[in-house]
Amino acid sequence: MEILKAKSAMQQWSKEKKRLLRSIGFVPTMGFLHQGHVSLMEKAKSLCDEVVLSIFVNPTQFGPTEDLDAYPCDLENDLNLARKAGVTAVFLPTKDHVYPQNFQTKIELEHLPKFLCGKFRPVHFGGVATVVTKLFNIVMPDVAVFGQKDYQQLQIIRQLTLDLDFDIKIVAGDIVREKDGLAMSSRNSYLSQAQRTSAMSLFKSMNMAKALIQSGETDPQAIGKKMETFIHGFDETAVEYICFCDPVTLEDMENLDRKFLMALAVRVGTTRLIDNCLMDPLQ
Ligand code: PAF
Repeated sequence: MEILKAKSAMQQWSKEKKRLLRSIGFVPTMGFLHQGHVSLMEKAKSLCDEVVLSIFVNPTQFGPTEDLDAYPCDLENDLNLARKAGVTAVFLPTKDHVYPQNFQTKIELEHLPKFLCGKFRPVHFGGVATVVTKLFNIVMPDVAVFGQKDYQQLQIIRQLTLDLDFDIKIVAGDIVREKDGLAMSSRNSYLSQAQRTSAMSLFKSMNMAKALIQSGETDPQAIGKKMETFIHGFDETAVEYICFCDPVTLEDMENLDRKFLMALAVRVGTTRLIDNCLMDPLQ
């Protein structure tokens, strides 16, 4: 497994693999890898000859009051997990190298960032879209794999790939959960034991919603209210949003009579957790 720090070294590596007709799968991350990331790397490995993992805590996708400085890291463990998952190159750029002085360009999408997390994190998706565009140009992958837990991010990447004519296949990786249902996230490491119990309320509330929908409830407002009351029954929880929306446009749905995305964001203490589930009431 090669470790590459310079953009030019990464580009050279990819050009050489392309010359040898080796397909390249790409998993961009911010490090502190867990089994969710492992499943993305394994997916990339199953689809491509080579797998590139990038680890870069991207400052432009954090708001001024967010956890950029506290973001956890464990490079040694990340490299071990990457090696085991079959990654062939790790791209580890520095902040100054990604954003040199006088950097001026931003990628902003018009519509998709207006919903869900974008309402609460105004700079986030511009930062994600910009860094992913840069990473696509540096790594030049054939396939890029993104986790479905960040569903809005996945939709935004799909859209920017179309809009900017990247010849890259975007593949979604399933949400990986702890045994008790909590969606894996690097941010789970911030939780105390008591908060960890409260964090279960996200998954439990989605199960409650599923049961209501299966018994015929189609009103998202009524379901959302019940979920919110349920979640607020747990210590230190504050619901940011609970949404039922179209899985493509992310626009709110008024009646759950076709396939939809149920998505929620909840603060547990100061940790912001998200989760989601695609559902089709007709199935
Ligand atoms: O999902 C993430 O870890 C990040 O948003 C990404 C895609 C690596 C961009 O910084």
